[in-house]
Amino acid sequence: MAKKLRLAVLASGGDTNLQSIIDGCQQDTLDAEIALVVCNNPGAGALKRAEAAGIRNICINHRDFSERADFDRAVVTALQDAQVELIVLAGFMRIISAVFLEAFPQRIINIHPALLPAFPGLHVQQKAIEYGARFSGCTVHFVDDGVDTGPIIVQAVVPIHSDDTEETLSARILEQEHKIYPQAIQWFAQDRVKLEGRKVVITDAERPQQALINPLP
Ligand code: GAR
Repeated sequence: MAKKLRLAVLASGGDTNLQSIIDGCQQDTLDAEIALVVCNNPGAGALKRAEAAGIRNICINHRDFSERADFDRAVVTALQDAQVELIVLAGFMRIISAVFLEAFPQRIINIHPALLPAFPGLHVQQKAIEYGARFSGCTVHFVDDGVDTGPIIVQAVVPIHSDDTEETLSARILEQEHKIYPQAIQWFAQDRVKLEGRKVVITDAERPQQALINPLP
């Protein structure tokens, strides 16, 4: 059997992206294994999900640290001890510091519920609705030292409807998150992700041809 990519998943609260990665590993659509789940919040559903799936999980509560760098160092040490090769942020609501980035250069990825570079930051589904955007979606990207600014690996687009609420749009986006995040991880497992300056090239990826228009006549 081919060697599996060792992942760490970091989450703060919810847990549906974690579950989609667990499912991919269990169903063998992902050549990866989750070596460790780390949460910064003891109430995170992700800890229960990991436990239920028999995955090693730890809580490192950021409130126990007065300095951000000390919290980051504790997380980095746990990740290094687990010998992980790719760090997957799944709703991890902490800024990634230089301590983290230097320990895992080009090995940290994030999913964001908007079409970056539009709508970085928080509450972005509501912001896209209020702005009147016709499309939103989700973005898997490398993490760099900015907020949601790293090189883009893959995006999925969803329409925004005039009667959307934050909840309905978030659900539509999440459905796509659960497809593109495992897909991106699989590309890493297959060693198909190449960073060329600001751009990410996926070896042998198919090109979509379809343009999208919203609303339709
Ligand atoms: C997801 O929508 C993810 O894109 C978002 O948090 C949600 C977590 O859902 N992440 C961010 O906003 C990061 N800035 P989940 O816990 O059910 O996977």
